[in-house]
Amino acid sequence: MLDNRLSYLFLCYKITSPESGDTKPRAAAKQAASGARSVCQRGEMMSQTGKYILPEGVGAHRAKYLLITSCKGGVGKSTCAANIAAALARRGQRVLLCDCDFDMRCLDLLLGLENDVVYDLYDAAAGRVPVAKAIISDERFEGRLGFIAAPYSGGGELSPGMLRSVFTAAESVGGYDYVLIDTPGSLASPAILDTGLIGTAVIVASHQPSSIRAADRTGEYLSGRRIKEQRLLINCFDFDGALSGARPGINEIIDRTFIQLCGIVPYDRGLMLASEKGEPGAGGNPAAAFDNIACRLLGRYVPLFAGFRGISVRRKIKRLLV
Ligand SMILES: Nc1ncnc2c1ncn2[C@@H]1O[C@H](COP(=O)(O)OP(=O)(O)OP(=O)(O)O)[C@@H](O)[C@H]1O
Ligand SMILES: [Mg+2]
Repeated sequence: MLDNRLSYLFLCYKITSPESGDTKPRAAAKQAASGARSVCQRGEMMSQTGKYILPEGVGAHRAKYLLITSCKGGVGKSTCAANIAAALARRGQRVLLCDCDFDMRCLDLLLGLENDVVYDLYDAAAGRVPVAKAIISDERFEGRLGFIAAPYSGGGELSPGMLRSVFTAAESVGGYDYVLIDTPGSLASPAILDTGLIGTAVIVASHQPSSIRAADRTGEYLSGRRIKEQRLLINCFDFDGALSGARPGINEIIDRTFIQLCGIVPYDRGLMLASEKGEPGAGGNPAAAFDNIACRLLGRYVPLFAGFRGISVRRKIKRLLV
């Protein structure tokens, strides 16, 4: 069993590829004035019925789709989605981040883009606007990070076909390498899973027993929906708790969830404050953690706590692994 867990920890980091009635006038005016933030269109067209007619070549799927999920709320899915997207963009990848938490949309806030949202996923999926207009290009990442906001209303009406069309059109319009989908704290919606696009599910657990159990349940559910490539992200990891034995160690969490690990993000007040200010990509150990995760998603080998400060890894790692 120990060999199995260690091989999980040390070998499995290398992940092998994984015009609506409710428009927002303030933001609309701002976007109209600046005109610079929406992704340029590549010949997208609308039919008279408002449905997309995709130009030739558009709709061919090539990006890697990552579902950031857990059936438990508040474990850090949105924080992780924003920061993984930022880390991938810093690594030169073109990344599209979609807020698919239709009830509690908040990624625009975490990214500090709330005043830039004019159109949302539903506007694009229902053919009210060309998909390029729904993509906000985050200038902090030199245009490599695109964002589509969750709908104010109508999210529940989106069918797998509509979602597939909008995702693949967006992917093509922006030339994205990765599409990250943030989900609510519940079992992922069949409409998203049935798009047939999801390649890897990043299942987020915090250090609390209930969230570890939820990660296990989420993994089981996704396996039943044929999402076999699953990775565990342990967020809000409490180093002191694990070292003192008050909280489970890394191996125990892996054993409880049966999911391959892709990274550990420490509990960090700075990360929380940065999220509240709409600044993805906090510094310190969380930044190292998200960069490590991005590298693993890109298929590179990265040691467990590479770039972390304040952890004398050699001395403590054995105790953390328990
Ligand atoms: N590693 C961390 N360290 C400290 N605080 C964190 C960390 N990760 C997330 N948080 C904080 O935890 C809270 C919940 O995070 P977040 O909104 O990302 O969770 P969620 O799983 O997306 O929630 P929901 O299920 O409601 O969508 C936020 O206040 C966030 O700043
Ligand atoms: Mg969330």
